[in-house]
Parts: sequence; structure tokens; C-alpha cells
Amino acid sequence: MEHTGLIGHPVSHSLSPVIHGYWLRMHGIEGDYTLHDIAPEALTTTLEHWRKKTPLRGVNVTVPHKQSVIPFMDRMDAAAQAIGAVNTIRIDNGEWHGTNTDAYGFMAHFNAEMPDYAKRLNHAVVLGAGGAARAAIHALKCESVERITILNRTYDTARTLAAEFDVEAAPMESAADILLTADMLTNTTSAGMKGNAPLLLPMASLPLHAVVYDIVYAPLVTPLLAEAHAYNLATVDGLGMLLYQAQKAFEYWWGVLPAVTPELRAAVVQTLEARA
Ligand code: ATR
Repeated sequence: MEHTGLIGHPVSHSLSPVIHGYWLRMHGIEGDYTLHDIAPEALTTTLEHWRKKTPLRGVNVTVPHKQSVIPFMDRMDAAAQAIGAVNTIRIDNGEWHGTNTDAYGFMAHFNAEMPDYAKRLNHAVVLGAGGAARAAIHALKCESVERITILNRTYDTARTLAAEFDVEAAPMESAADILLTADMLTNTTSAGMKGNAPLLLPMASLPLHAVVYDIVYAPLVTPLLAEAHAYNLATVDGLGMLLYQAQKAFEYWWGVLPAVTPELRAAVVQTLEARA
């Protein structure tokens, strides 16, 4: 039996055991996926212990550890380096390899929902300038999107991130103008998540062909997506990003790319709804 899992703080809400458990069963792999709630002050001790004698094939890494685990990596791939965060670790003969499957998840789900749209994407607007924004911007840059604009509550943070990724930043006050030319609007902040107030945006500015993508998946239809529906805009929800980042992590550990099926999505939605 080989072990995988998730380290983060908190982790009890995670849907990843449902996803990985489904694929482990489907592929007949003798492995498991368990949750490890590790407080920031316990991270170093835990990882040093695991580095000496690891019981693991690999782990996913979530908030708040995605950057703190970097010093423990022997190697990091290009995605993890560009994003500046590790969300998946694989341990090969004692060597720790770090990758980041969030950008893959972001784009793979978008491409599955909106086939061929990414090729025609000229202007993408990204809301937020945190870790999730970094993954989304990296993904959009890999798709050669010509113009990417970061809109963030704190303009300075947007400007710093924009300089790092060589994209554009704009203050929230200019949102109405910026959205006029957007082919895609994507929310990478936690605004609109269950218990958080939604972002108020001038959605009427968006062209009719624009797609609105929210990475928040609880609730599945966020206030932003509901508003987009009211304007008859195409939408992409955040649950698929979770499924697709897991797909790539599963492949990283087990060498087989599992399928993201309607049945799996239904099982995850059922778990989400049971908790709502
Ligand atoms: P993560 O790493 O999960 O993306 P983060 O680093 O805390 O999380 O980044 C959160 C981002 O969402 C930030 O850009 C934050 O804006 P600020 O830079 O102004 O803090 C943005 N954000 C979070 N909650 C928000 C809200 N309610 N309204 C607007 N922006 C919000």
C-alpha cells in the first residue's frame, strides 16, 4: 500500500479524498489518500521527519503551505517555478519533486467547457492578485493570450504581480472600461465564496461573447456566475478546476491520467451539497 494525501491548515473540508479515492478504486491501485492538518509552526518538523523516513508516495499541498514547502524540494518543474508555489509533491527514492497542477487544472477545465475558445482569446481579465491569480496568469500566458489585465482590490499588489508576469494591471475604478474588450473574466479571489461578500463589478460592460470563469466552487453558482447568467454570458464554474488539478496530480504520482467523468463530478457535487 502506498500513501498519498493533502497537507494544509485547515484541510477537513477537502474534497480531494473523494476524487482520489474514486480514481484509486477505478484503477485498482493499492493506495490511499489521507488528510494531514499541519499548522504552520509544525510544518518544518513534520517535513524534516518525512524527509528522513517517508511513508509517502506524494502529497498535495494547500493553503497556507504552497510556498513554505519550496525549501524542502530537491527539484521543481517549470510550472512550479513560474507560479512560485508547489501544490503537488512526489517522492522518488527519497528525492522530493515539486510541481504545480493548478494552472493545468484552470486551463484544462476551461478547454473542456469551452472547446477552441482559448485560441481566440485576445483579452483576459483576472480578478485578484494572490496565489490563484498567479496560476491563472501562468496558464493564460502558456495559451499565448495576447493581453492579460489584473484587476485587484489593492492596486499596488496588482501592479507588482503584473510586473513579474509582464502583463497589465488596472485599478478597480477602471473596471468598466477594461471589461469592454474582455473575452474572458476570471475571478481568482475568495469573494463570493460561501460566507464571503461577492465582488460588485460593472458586468454590463462585458461583450456578449465574453466568458465568465469563477474558480470558487462553493457555492457552485456564485453570485458572479449568477450575474453573468442574467446577462446571458457563458460561464465556467470552479469545480472542474479542482477535478483537473487533481487529475494531473494523480498522474504525477501513479503514472496514469485518470478520467474526469460526469459520474465523478456528480459524486463530488453530492458531497458538496451534503455539506451546504
Ligand atoms: P490565494 O493565494 O488563495 O489566491 P490570497 O493570496 O490571500 O489567496 O489572495 C487573495 C486575493 O484575493 C488578493 O488579491 C485579494 O485582494 P487584496 O490584494 O486587495 O487583498 C483578493 N480578495 C480576497 N477577498 C476579496 C474580496 N472580498 N474582495 C476583493 N478582493 C478580494
